[in-house]
Amino acid sequence: MTRIAYLNGRFAPISTPAVAVEDRGLQFAHGVYEVLKAIGGRLVDLDRHLDRLERSLAHARIPMPTSRAVLALLLEECVRRNRLAEALVYLQIDRGVAARNHVCPEEVRPTLFVTVRPARFPTPEERTRGVAVITLPDERWARCDIKSVSLLPNVLARSRAAEAGAREAWLVGADGVITEGSASNAWIVDAAGVLRTHPLGPRILGGVTREVVLELARARALPLEERAFTRAEALAAREAFLTSTTSLVLPVTRIDDRPVGDGLPGPVTRTLARAYAEHAGLAIATEE
Ligand code: PDD
Repeated sequence: MTRIAYLNGRFAPISTPAVAVEDRGLQFAHGVYEVLKAIGGRLVDLDRHLDRLERSLAHARIPMPTSRAVLALLLEECVRRNRLAEALVYLQIDRGVAARNHVCPEEVRPTLFVTVRPARFPTPEERTRGVAVITLPDERWARCDIKSVSLLPNVLARSRAAEAGAREAWLVGADGVITEGSASNAWIVDAAGVLRTHPLGPRILGGVTREVVLELARARALPLEERAFTRAEALAAREAFLTSTTSLVLPVTRIDDRPVGDGLPGPVTRTLARAYAEHAGLAIATEE
């Protein structure tokens, strides 16, 4: 089936929409985005994604091109037109088309587009055996909390991970702490049994999945600290996992080619993976 995209007021086959060459998203990466999943036609955690979108837009000095309610309807319509039971929805809003000038234009209408594709969640094998990550220096800018389309360091890190046969790159700051992955948040159950992930702030993207998993962990009274961990602590951890809209809660069983704990997904990870799948309404919830 032809995939349908939306661009500035029109639905069209994905091959049709074209962005102008002087679009500020293209020339300056002056844009922000969201990736959502739809399960059975329902957008999972829509409000949380829209909250984050509004924060990113405000930081990037981009006006919201439409009301929040209309945007929600638009996203739902994009999912409906693509007739996919499990879909990934990409939404980008950038500062629009203007003669190239670093100064933000005043009156220009933002560019808004949405694409939808079939979701590819982790395979049963990835979920039961876990995945490998490598660590790399965090070479990104100082405002990683903004979901900016400027993703060159992330793209380079993820490509290096793929070349090394790893699922993700965990990024290590100059102070030795693991901030997050190139496109996911990083978690461990440390040697003392405490679930840990980097605290919110400018060094990480506040993941929607991260937020939900924290709530699920608190509801289960798991020992938990939003406290950064070093690469050494990750290597000594009992368990590790990563979270994102597309990866869900995914066990990490190798870091830099060394096994995490006994090399298999641990009990805390499995509990949270099941709880998150249930929260999202995924069929795999019943298989775990
Ligand atoms: N990535 N950290 C970074 C740098 C990310 O790019 C993402 C999401 C996350 C996890 O956020 P969430 O749980 O809201 O998906 C953390 C998306 C999926 C992407 O760029 O494709």
